[in-house]
Amino acid sequence: MENRILNNGIIMPAAGFGTWDLRGQECISCVAKAITLGYRLIDTAIMYGNEAECAEGVRQSGIDRSEVFITTKINSPYGTYQKTAKAVDDSLKRMKLDYIDLILIHEPYERYIDMYKALEDAYKAGKVRAIGVSNLNRRLYERLVQSCEIVPAVNQVECHVYYPQLSYSRYLKEKGTVMESWAPFTEGRRRIFDEPVLKNIGAAHGKTSGQIALKYLLQNGITVIPKTSKEERMKENIDLFDFELSEDELKQIALLDKGQSLFGWYD
Ligand SMILES: NC(=O)c1ccc[n+]([C@@H]2O[C@H](COP(=O)([O-])OP(=O)(O)OC[C@H]3O[C@@H](n4cnc5c(N)ncnc54)[C@H](OP(=O)(O)O)[C@@H]3O)[C@@H](O)[C@H]2O)c1
Repeated sequence: MENRILNNGIIMPAAGFGTWDLRGQECISCVAKAITLGYRLIDTAIMYGNEAECAEGVRQSGIDRSEVFITTKINSPYGTYQKTAKAVDDSLKRMKLDYIDLILIHEPYERYIDMYKALEDAYKAGKVRAIGVSNLNRRLYERLVQSCEIVPAVNQVECHVYYPQLSYSRYLKEKGTVMESWAPFTEGRRRIFDEPVLKNIGAAHGKTSGQIALKYLLQNGITVIPKTSKEERMKENIDLFDFELSEDELKQIALLDKGQSLFGWYD
């Protein structure tokens, strides 16, 4: 497993397990299975309604909690400093954890800067090992950085071969923020698994088009958190570290970039 070193020295796995849409017992089983297969990063959120199940899956995996990097996110019902501060405590209780590895503000809500300040205080109090944001475009990120004390460790954004946001990712890196990709497979909005360029390059490496799509992001310094409920796909989505894409292959994949969000979140 490759890692990323965050701006405070904390180590975060470069590839993790997304959990949006996984609920109840299925979520517990999938998270436990993913960890036994080698995943060490679990991405949850208050909004997903599965924080408790994700933490239970970590416990049931038999792998020590300290070896698993747990990310959660705080959403709009907690849209003030006080409510975010309480949300951190509630997430800790719900997950029965002493600390969370990474907490993000889920979207740029009206008072996202105040919310982020509550995360800064939770960080100083030792409740969370790193803090960050999600879905901030460059303008909103710059606004935050001008008014906050702690540079976000991570910005989790829509990012896939059709909209990899590479120049934004390089800009964030210069500032000390790792870009993390959500919807690395486009959440089904494009037929990414049938993409000829990805298939051809995959055939040359004995890999699937999905693996090539993830590897492209990893080689560009971006972390990935694909979601699947299927064991075979869990194995496939993490089997990414025994090959490298060549410069020429990276250039071919770069041509898929249409420079436009498939979700319209950043317009
Ligand atoms: N911060 C945010 O605002 C935000 C927004 C969206 C998502 N996220 C996070 O990012 C994670 C990933 O994004 P996502 O779940 O939206 O979309 P995604 O990972 O792009 O796509 C997931 C879909 O791809 C299928 N899939 C997974 N692996 C596959 C494979 N190897 N071959 C074929 N199909 C495969 C899954 O189906 P099966 O389950 O049937 O395999 C599922 O339908 C989420 O789970 C969540 O943790 C964050």
